[in-house]
Amino acid sequence: VKVIDIRVRSANRRTEYPIIIAEQLAGSLGAQLARLAPKARPIVVSSPRVWRHHGPLVTAGLRGAGDTPLEVILVADGERAKHLRTVSRVYDRLLDVKADRRTVVVVVGGGVLGDLAGFAAASFLRGLPVVQVPTTVVAQVDSAIGGKVGVNHSRGKNLIGAFHPPLAVLTDPRLLSTLPARELRAGLYEVVKYGAISSARLFARLERRLPQILACESAALVPVIAECSRIKARVVSIDEHETGLRRILNFGHTVGHALEAITSYTRFLHGEAVGWGMLAAVALARARGELAPTAAERLATLVDRVGTRPAIGDLSIADCVEATARDKKVVAGTLHFVMPVAIGRTRIATDVTTRELARALRTLGMRP
Ligand SMILES: NC(=O)c1ccc[n+]([C@@H]2O[C@H](COP(=O)([O-])OP(=O)(O)OC[C@H]3O[C@@H](n4cnc5c(N)ncnc54)[C@H](O)[C@@H]3O)[C@@H](O)[C@H]2O)c1
Ligand SMILES: [Zn+2]
Repeated sequence: VKVIDIRVRSANRRTEYPIIIAEQLAGSLGAQLARLAPKARPIVVSSPRVWRHHGPLVTAGLRGAGDTPLEVILVADGERAKHLRTVSRVYDRLLDVKADRRTVVVVVGGGVLGDLAGFAAASFLRGLPVVQVPTTVVAQVDSAIGGKVGVNHSRGKNLIGAFHPPLAVLTDPRLLSTLPARELRAGLYEVVKYGAISSARLFARLERRLPQILACESAALVPVIAECSRIKARVVSIDEHETGLRRILNFGHTVGHALEAITSYTRFLHGEAVGWGMLAAVALARARGELAPTAAERLATLVDRVGTRPAIGDLSIADCVEATARDKKVVAGTLHFVMPVAIGRTRIATDVTTRELARALRTLGMRP
């Protein structure tokens, strides 16, 4: 089995940590852990759903790590569970099982769990080390990498958090095989995003191999997950705190976040909203003459091939435009819009008018 090792630099903590990607990695977590943190005692945090699918494999993989029986803390996941009360439950359970400075928190789950358990670990005893074992596409290519952890507040998403780079990210693409089809597709919009923003080669690979990727074939999935991880690793290594380069990761997210907000986070999975957001950005760039028609066609076609998204025809353009103005990516009054200029290349535009944006949304079929 091929093992891919990618390094992430954390300026914040002056450390470097690996992302290790390999088929069947989940079955040998104990050996990985013994290398990363000899003598550490693993405590797993996962969710009932994820653990139902992968608990036996992970338990077997961790056998022999630590000198006490494996403790597993299960908490609810999903966006609605991503708040301080769930973090508090993790603290309670960490105390129950006597977590101490020898503990390594092994998070097995999607982005919600990674963010929430990562935050619990960041703050418990002023910081326990974390190993991320991501189980969704979003977590494998995005949220587990970069050290941002946190939870939502009733007044907004991800308002409470910290930087807590993991000891390692251990990625087993086989864990994705149990994902519901809709979750898989939602994650793949973010994968298309990586190709669109920084790798024409990844983009072309996606065009060629999309059917195999949608079927979760490892041979097709592994290089794609690896390439996305490399891109995210590179971006956060250079710009951990999202001041410059990290902004390109927001391609499709300005309109995406707005669509999520105006539907109260109930209609779209995040990736689906980003899919629409990318189409809006493509339409806008094309209308400005910043993106050639052939490139625009390729981008729009690949987004559409990922799958169908919940409809937007009933949503008001004015509401959507207004919501983009409230996005936290507004810096000193101007919207920083990630503009595609070629396959694999973007630029940050600071002069996008609300009229242009409205026109682009009109071409997607939103309600005037
Ligand atoms: N920290 C960051 O840099 C960063 C970046 C991007 C996104 N995020 C966060 O990530 C979250 C979204 O993550 P997500 O899309 O992974 O959602 P999620 O964690 O809610 O997982 C989606 C669903 O899939 C289920 N699931 C997870 N793994 C599974 C598996 N292998 N098989 C079957 N079911 C499985 C979960 O139980 C859940 O119901 C958001 O809260 C977002 O804010 C954080
Ligand atoms: Zn996203």
